[in-house]
Amino acid sequence: MLLRELLTENGTIYVHLDWHVIHYAKAVLDEVFGQDRFEVEVVWKRTLGGTSIANRFRTQTDSILIYTVGEGFTFHELFTKEGLSDREIEEMFPLVDSKRGRYCTDNLANPDFRPNLMYEYKGYPPPPKGWAITKEKMEQWDSEGRLHFPTSKEGRIRRKRFLNEWEGVRVQNLWNDIPPLQSQSAERVGYDTQKPEALLRRIVSASSDKGDLVLDCFVGSGTTAAVAEKLDRRWIACDLSRFAIHTTRKRLLEVATVKPFVVENLGKYERQIWQVAEFPANGRNRLEERREREVAYRNFILDLYHAKSISGHTWLHGLKSGRMVHVGAVDAPVTLADVKGIARETWKAVGTGKDAPSQAHADILGWEFAFEVNELAKQIAAESRVEVTFKKIPREVLEKKAVEQGDVRFFELGALSVEVEQKGREVALKLTDFVIPTDDIPEEARTAIKHWSQLVDYWAVDWDFKLDTFHNQWQTYRSRKNPEIDRETRYVYAEPGRYTIVVKVIDLLGNDTTKTLKVGVT
Ligand SMILES: C[S@@+](CC[C@H](N)C(=O)[O-])C[C@H]1O[C@@H](n2cnc3c(N)ncnc32)[C@H](O)[C@@H]1O
Repeated sequence: MLLRELLTENGTIYVHLDWHVIHYAKAVLDEVFGQDRFEVEVVWKRTLGGTSIANRFRTQTDSILIYTVGEGFTFHELFTKEGLSDREIEEMFPLVDSKRGRYCTDNLANPDFRPNLMYEYKGYPPPPKGWAITKEKMEQWDSEGRLHFPTSKEGRIRRKRFLNEWEGVRVQNLWNDIPPLQSQSAERVGYDTQKPEALLRRIVSASSDKGDLVLDCFVGSGTTAAVAEKLDRRWIACDLSRFAIHTTRKRLLEVATVKPFVVENLGKYERQIWQVAEFPANGRNRLEERREREVAYRNFILDLYHAKSISGHTWLHGLKSGRMVHVGAVDAPVTLADVKGIARETWKAVGTGKDAPSQAHADILGWEFAFEVNELAKQIAAESRVEVTFKKIPREVLEKKAVEQGDVRFFELGALSVEVEQKGREVALKLTDFVIPTDDIPEEARTAIKHWSQLVDYWAVDWDFKLDTFHNQWQTYRSRKNPEIDRETRYVYAEPGRYTIVVKVIDLLGNDTTKTLKVGVT
């Protein structure tokens, strides 16, 4: 329904699903878009082989359902030469011109009687109803070598169509000319469900013009965005997976002509909506309902974190293995003030009873952490003689399926060290250390990691952060072509002043860690 609302009057939606569910989707799409707005079903031959099941016909195809919203939808007819064998092409172009290669011939007779196109040309009489073209056109094509003259004057002049000018056959609804991605393909980015760019190129070229806006709300490895960028379309791409977003970001940066783009996180808006939907409340007033919801939400997170819920504190919500647990709100980052409150309460509570921590240690779970938190908070908490651990509440908690499957892991915030060197207006940054808890690293990757820098998959710098959006002014990342990563970068400021620099690291788990630095440039 939302996509129907988002689609522009001349837009088209392509829905690609496999044979298990496509027929259910068709019924829903008919209802949302209207049966009369169903344009066509494309059948894409997506494998060369088939599934390994042998007790029924193997499945080699997927369906793509195409719907529009209005009569004036954009459509460009496409042609293809792929999928035709040399023999088929030779059969289609059986004649050979010594200068211009293979060609076939077309009839030049008019199907309707046209007395004004009844003329003799170079001794060849006109067809019974006249020629299809004027004498001027006949002369032009003759001078361009586009006419085929039979040896006998009794024969008929025909038009030559050259193979080297041929666009191909019209693309119809059976797409068997786009092979799946091969394991060695240069396009491959290591994403399981990655589609070939040729498939998306066909879709984007057929249904949009340069400058149009293309949306893919399940972008995966970024195929649609990369193709839209290459074809000069604007694009919006969404995905709920951290790995998909990171793969897409790196893939786009590999497009030579890529224009600046931002990676936005729906963040708190999505979480606020989720909280209201997931934890219904029926208090006497809004404030009471809000409180009820917050308690239900915190208990849900504590449960996922395998902590016990406790009451009687302002900042502390749970207890796990003798440590206090704080659960950050859905719509606000954990701030330094929060950390101070958590440390104070934890310190007071140690050893005071049944629901008291056995040690002065607090686990702080949060969706977001204020910029300075990871830097200063540990120090502040240590001053209160409390050890704190920061853990990110993963986005997966919003997904019913992930929760049911028990896929929810709370990763500790990474700790990043950056050295700053300043010479006049030039500032050099060097990553000197990066730590993520060993437990968070998948076992198979752990043994291969010999140096901290191997944990860094990507890092970027905003040299003039203005407390709003992070602007990638410089970045480096690992790719298949270039698996190494720079550890240093430098920048020359045009103007003197005080600047806030933000360094963002994305680690091999797809988590980001940021560090804020302040410099005074004279
Ligand atoms: C089949 S893959 C897309 C592959 C993509 N066409 C490509 O070429 O890489 C589907 C993607 O949808 C994402 N996804 C699944 N449910 C989603 C949701 N509710 N919202 C956003 N993305 C979702 C998955 O994370 C996955 O990356």
